[in-house]
Amino acid sequence: MSNSLQDMYIEMVEKALGRYVSKLRCNDDSVLKAMRYAALGGGKRVRALLVLNFNRILGGATNDALEFAAAIEMVHAYSLIHDDLPCMDDDDLRRGKPSCHKAFGEAVALLAGDALLTLAFETIARNTSLPAQVVLHAVQELSAAAGSQGMIGGQVVDIEGRAATMDELTGMCMMKTGALIKCAVRLGCLSANAQEHILKQADIYADAIGLAFQIRDDILDIVGSEAELGKPIGSDAQQHKSTFATVLGLEKAQTLAQKLTHTALDALGQLGVEEGDPLYEMTQALCSRTK
Ligand code: IPE
Ligand code: IPE
Ligand code: MG
Ligand code: MG
Ligand code: MG
Repeated sequence: MSNSLQDMYIEMVEKALGRYVSKLRCNDDSVLKAMRYAALGGGKRVRALLVLNFNRILGGATNDALEFAAAIEMVHAYSLIHDDLPCMDDDDLRRGKPSCHKAFGEAVALLAGDALLTLAFETIARNTSLPAQVVLHAVQELSAAAGSQGMIGGQVVDIEGRAATMDELTGMCMMKTGALIKCAVRLGCLSANAQEHILKQADIYADAIGLAFQIRDDILDIVGSEAELGKPIGSDAQQHKSTFATVLGLEKAQTLAQKLTHTALDALGQLGVEEGDPLYEMTQALCSRTK
């Protein structure tokens, strides 16, 4: 995924995140430190890149999308803090560093996650370059995607071990991972004032890429390198989880991820995005990512 445009986008998002997290004043320094640790501590920034690339391909202005991109990365960072807690996946490594609760303790990590979630909505509301109606729409999209009908809903099914069949796994992953990814795509569209028929096409892309992303994550939990991934391998097995990789087997799971990636690339084609475009390249690269 190394490509100068994407690198430039990542730099812009890192700066925006730094601005919003650093300008906070708080009596309790530890929660601020934990928020910075989790939000600024690396990550591929896939969701932010989706916001900014959809903004670009639809003719938007990058600056109009920056708050949206930063906000979705805050929600994502919060979801990872909570996902790693002992009461959830109980993982001690994240983005190549001790997980937030390992570095700051469970209580502060929990609160840092909560604070990043609320900061995300404050950040979206700080977008003053787009019409208020668009910003309001973005708030609705992000809150729905992050909540019980989206990411949280999927996490609950995952943690309770209620997904075993392919249909159940698909539903769970469309929520726990797909919802935020779809939201990123939609925020990019909104920031470029896209019409409804464009959003429909973008949704086809997002649904496919969101599922493919989690399938690849499940595969990497088995075949990945801990040093490269920056998170523990074998976490799913340790938690006795059914995943795409265990239910389908590694090969069939990868074939499904490839098929979904083709669907996503076709949807991009419908939006006039062809091979050679950084978004096209990024979409392809995600399917064989090693981190
Ligand atoms: C990890 O997401 C959690 C999933 C939803 C699979 P990423 O793989 O995007 O994590 P970072 O942001 O790059 O660390
Ligand atoms: C996480 O799925 C999805 C979230 C909403 C955070 P995983 O639990 O598989 O993510 P990793 O593998 O820990 O990053
Ligand atoms: Mg999990
Ligand atoms: Mg996990
Ligand atoms: Mg995983």
